[in-house]
Amino acid sequence: MTSGGSPAMPSREGPRHIAIIMDGNGRWAARRGLPPSAGHKAGVERIRDLISACKDRGVEALTLFAFSSENWQRPPKEVELLMSLFYSYLRKEARRMAEEGVRLRVIGRRDRLSERLQRAITEAEDITRDGNQGNLVIAADYGGQWDIANAARQLAEQVAAGEREANSINEQTLAEYVQLADLPPVDLLIRSSGEQRISNFILWQAAYSEFYFTDTLWPEFGEVELDAAIAAYSQRHRRYGGRDEDGGLKAQA
Ligand code: IPE
Ligand code: IPE
Ligand code: MG
Repeated sequence: MTSGGSPAMPSREGPRHIAIIMDGNGRWAARRGLPPSAGHKAGVERIRDLISACKDRGVEALTLFAFSSENWQRPPKEVELLMSLFYSYLRKEARRMAEEGVRLRVIGRRDRLSERLQRAITEAEDITRDGNQGNLVIAADYGGQWDIANAARQLAEQVAAGEREANSINEQTLAEYVQLADLPPVDLLIRSSGEQRISNFILWQAAYSEFYFTDTLWPEFGEVELDAAIAAYSQRHRRYGGRDEDGGLKAQA
C-alpha cells in the first residue's frame, strides 16, 4: 500500500500542495521589446493574487520556485535585480501575509544571499510564524540536488557522532530530512512557459506529483490558468505504482 490512501482512486479532491516553476519572465519581456527585468517585475505581481486564489481553493501549501542554484549564472545585473525584487517583496508582503494567516518559509541555501536579505527572510518568517490559514514556501538559491545532499549530510553527521546506525538510513529517513517534509506531499507541479523539464527543482518530493505544463508565460499566469491546472489534476488517476481492480478501464473511460 502507499501512504496516500487507496492507490487506485482518482484524485477527486483538489490538490493540497501545489508547487510552481514560475518560468517565462524573460520571454514575456522580450516579446514587448523590454529587458528581462521588466518581466521579473511583472512576474512578482502575479504572486499576491495567486496566494489568495490558492487559499480560496482550499490549497494548504504553495511552493514557488523563485531562484535556482543555477540562476547565479545569469548576468550580474539580472541577479542583482532578482535579489532586490525578492527583498522588497518580503518587506512589503510579510505583514499582509501575517494578517491573512499565511505562514511563509524560504527554502534553499542562505549563505550565498546578502546579509540584508538573510535578515529580511528571518524577519518575514518570524512575523508569519503563527499563520494557520496556509503555507507559502519560496525556493530561493534552491536546487533539488542540494536538498538531497543536504539531507544526506545531516544524516552522515549523526552517524559520525555515533547517534545513528548507517543501516538505519532508508527512503523514509531521507524523506524526513529533505525540505517540505512537514507539509502535505506536492500533489501538483506546474511549470509555465512551455518548457517541460524540472530544472533541478524538487527532485525528491516530486516522485509522485502530477505534472502540468502550460505555454502561458509566468507574467500572464492567473486564476484561469490555476483553475485549468487544478481541473487537469482532478482528472488524473493516481496509482502510486499500484493497479486498479478493473485493470485501469475506468481511468480510460
Ligand atoms: C523565470 O523567468 C524567472 C527566473 C528564472 C528567476 P526566466 O527569466 O527564466 O524567463 P525566460 O525563461 O527567460 O523566458
Ligand atoms: C527554472 O527556470 C528556475 C526558476 C523558474 C526559478 P530556468 O529558466 O532557470 O530554467 P532553465 O534554464 O530553462 O532550465
Ligand atoms: Mg527560464
